[in-house]
Amino acid sequence: MNILNSPAPAAGGNGNHKNLEACSIVIFGASGDLTARKLIPALYHLFKDGLMPPTFRVIGFARREKTDASWRQELRTALDQFSRTKPVDDKVWAAFAENIFYCIGDLTDDAAYARLEKQLGTFGNPALRDNLLFYLAISPSQFGEVVEQVHRSNLLKRDGPGWQRLVVEKPFGHDLASAEKLNHELTRYAHESQVFRIDHYLGKETVQNILMFRFSNSIFERLWNRESVDHVQITVSEKIGVGDRGGYYEEAGALRDMVQNHMLQVLSLIAMEPPVSLEAEAVRDEKVKLLKSIRPLSLDDVAKQIVRGQYFAGSVGGEMRTGYRQETKVKPDSNVETFAALKLFIDNWRWSGVPFYLRTGKNLPMSASEVRIQFRPTPNVLFAAQCGSHLDANALTLRLQPNEGISLRFNGKVPGTTIGVRPVRMHFSYDAEFGAYTPEAYERLLLEAIAGDATLFIRRDEVETAWKIADSIRAGWEGRSLTNREFYSAGTWGPIAADDLLAQLGHTWHEPLVIK
Ligand code: BG6
Repeated sequence: MNILNSPAPAAGGNGNHKNLEACSIVIFGASGDLTARKLIPALYHLFKDGLMPPTFRVIGFARREKTDASWRQELRTALDQFSRTKPVDDKVWAAFAENIFYCIGDLTDDAAYARLEKQLGTFGNPALRDNLLFYLAISPSQFGEVVEQVHRSNLLKRDGPGWQRLVVEKPFGHDLASAEKLNHELTRYAHESQVFRIDHYLGKETVQNILMFRFSNSIFERLWNRESVDHVQITVSEKIGVGDRGGYYEEAGALRDMVQNHMLQVLSLIAMEPPVSLEAEAVRDEKVKLLKSIRPLSLDDVAKQIVRGQYFAGSVGGEMRTGYRQETKVKPDSNVETFAALKLFIDNWRWSGVPFYLRTGKNLPMSASEVRIQFRPTPNVLFAAQCGSHLDANALTLRLQPNEGISLRFNGKVPGTTIGVRPVRMHFSYDAEFGAYTPEAYERLLLEAIAGDATLFIRRDEVETAWKIADSIRAGWEGRSLTNREFYSAGTWGPIAADDLLAQLGHTWHEPLVIK
């Protein structure tokens, strides 16, 4: 069964009622940050909410010397810090922790995999030996080695017994060629259907809501096309800078870090055609189709339609931030972008001629993600005398985070004896309606991977198509230093060039809505 058509949840509930089979979750790279910060807290909450399979084991595989007991203790300390519900429930933790084990070993050492294989056998239940979720919380350069090793140890097979799945994290390559190589390595001993590529944006409740909203409301779906929509703006802005991730960021930049994955995912959900069903392949077919209909960008198009930016020192919410070039592990003459704005066209029947503007950046004035559907204005023949040449057009805003909700902007008459027209808003808030319900994206994603539902994961052709788009942009930037119009002060909405981009068609960026 698919997450998107599972029974309606009670307010605040998860709404998954899957019959999950017993399985073991093997985390490679278990000593890393991700395990303590995200994976174990997510599994703990799934367990607490009664959503884990009745029988399961979690095995951490890493090089450092640890025992089951010392690892459990370490994870417990981390959970106190990273759990989304506090305090941690001691009884629940104790019951959960009994299922956690540690396997010491180097990723390149055959003997370590033999130990892992043996350990899985000691659990007694054949399902705990054969149903295996391998979570590769390791560098992509090690994927090939691990896949080969688990295959050789008889732990990864294409056709059973049981099921084996590989869950991988971003970054999934740094361009098309490297992504193709990773795909080749992952599928050397596994079917594509066994590979679960994570984009944590797809685990966000509000991102999933996009499909629900679009395809269950006739009043909006009818307007969701070039006849009614003037343009679309997708903003994912972050108040944080690159912090201590300078080294990683120098290799990534905003294009690889945010656009190739999260932003293009949101775009494809917003713009895709209705799938024939909510099954994984049907949904992913439509997302890929959408990505393939994005008009290819020539070098010349990149110069005209894509803007990059880099922050210099400035104040964000009263706090002074250093410039990107002064961050740790960043080259003092770096041209890496911390901001990107794109004008894309989708050359299909529905969206022909409608600009899609995407922007994302670090050290912007607020952390907010939203999609704004800007409708075409009415002919301004009736109110021109009173309102001047400009009558605000309707807009629908899907607020993804924070204050998840939907707002509709329309015009209303200003009360009084004169005919004054002014835009007003209607707000809907998920919290106010359903109560606060904020599971971490990883909870949903881990549950889906255990259940074997790939809807919320990125398919091979999807990741490769997204890289083709990112690569064409990078090619346009190659060897070009940043110009003055591409720098922005920390705490502002990006470089002037980003405003110029919208001005070409008479548009302006809209600041994300702040709903109190
Ligand atoms: C990650 C990026 O994938 O997403 C980070 O590597 C970014 O740079 C983060 O900060 C944003 O995610 P969220 O869930 O905070 O919007």
